[in-house]
Amino acid sequence: QQFRLLCLPGDGIGPEVIQAALGVLQAIAPALDRPVEITHDLAGGACYEAHGVFLRDETMELARQSDAILFGAEGGPGWDNLNIPGGPTARSGLSRLRKELDLFANLRPVRSWPLPAEQTPFRPELVSGADLLVFRENTSGIYFGEPRGIFEHGDRRHAIDTQYYAQGEIDRAAQLAFAVAADRRGKVTSVDKANVMETGELWRERVDVIHRTHWPQVELDHLYADACLFELVRAPCRFDVILADNLFGDLLSDCAAAIAGSLGMLPSASLGPERADGTRAALYEPVHGSAPDIAGKGIANPAAAILSVGMMLDLSLGRKDLAARVENAVDNVLAEGQLTRDLGGSATTNDFANSVVAKL
Ligand code: NAI
Ligand code: MG
Repeated sequence: QQFRLLCLPGDGIGPEVIQAALGVLQAIAPALDRPVEITHDLAGGACYEAHGVFLRDETMELARQSDAILFGAEGGPGWDNLNIPGGPTARSGLSRLRKELDLFANLRPVRSWPLPAEQTPFRPELVSGADLLVFRENTSGIYFGEPRGIFEHGDRRHAIDTQYYAQGEIDRAAQLAFAVAADRRGKVTSVDKANVMETGELWRERVDVIHRTHWPQVELDHLYADACLFELVRAPCRFDVILADNLFGDLLSDCAAAIAGSLGMLPSASLGPERADGTRAALYEPVHGSAPDIAGKGIANPAAAILSVGMMLDLSLGRKDLAARVENAVDNVLAEGQLTRDLGGSATTNDFANSVVAKL
């Protein structure tokens, strides 16, 4: 049956890179055994201008009925500091989608690309061959735990954040991380601070239980978060899947991102819980934002959006082979020196996307 894709290009360079990515999807679609039906809608500032909200209820309903969502980017100077009541979900379409679809797993693959040496802060010989994925729990932990706030007690002020994890939240993250690793090189490095944090102790215990019970064929090791950051910089090639909570995953994914050489090279997927039919809600988006400084010029690097489509082919359509074809095409185009401005070249968004399509 048909694959229903909801496309939300959003703001700034979002529409530019999504258009490029859809061109790649169109080129690969004949190889799929399912027809892809694409619906477009507004999200972010573009939606706010038209409808006064960052995501409409109708769009939320469409999202629930879709097999996947392809998101561009949202935000910009005109919308970031509006004082809109109702918390993050009222101020951001992406936050609303994340919350209402319970997208608890954020997957950020990072690899090295054939780029000029000065593009990476790492020594090229150190990152060459690096190919890892940071799996971040994305809906719980210290960014959401209660109590939180800044409190006044007489003349003493203090601030509280709460690192909270329910056992079930750790379990579902671990389950999915092992499944993702089994589909890659079969290795998970789980990250915590079990030496000094209670949540870390529970995290480690549950990851071990899930591993023993369901995924003994996957290799598992544990690292303290600080040691993991050190290892990521020292020897990034040793990692396959890094499983981390919300806070540590945030830090680790940004650190790992430096391996790729540009924000424009980083795709991501956000997945929800498994449904009765075995599928999951899934949102694919480049890691970068709307880049207002270069929007409208046609010079944004579309690789992150193209690689996000690749992740969709793999994770939502079960076509690892096609995902690999997309990734190889991007790799080949870069290797031939066809580089966008962020990578030190002068190729336009369309130049790059057309070259990728030609490789396919
Ligand atoms: P950004 O990622 O939009 O831009 C950071 C820098 O990287 C800029 O100099 C930009 O030109 C460059 N850059 C980013 N993507 C690029 C690409 N594909 N090709 C070439 N250069 C690229 O982050 P920034 O500037 O902090 O935020 C800009 C806006 O985007 C804000 O409104 C922010 O709220 C929003 N944002 C949205 C995200 C999302 O939708 N998931 C994520 C991050 C920021
Ligand atoms: Mg971050």
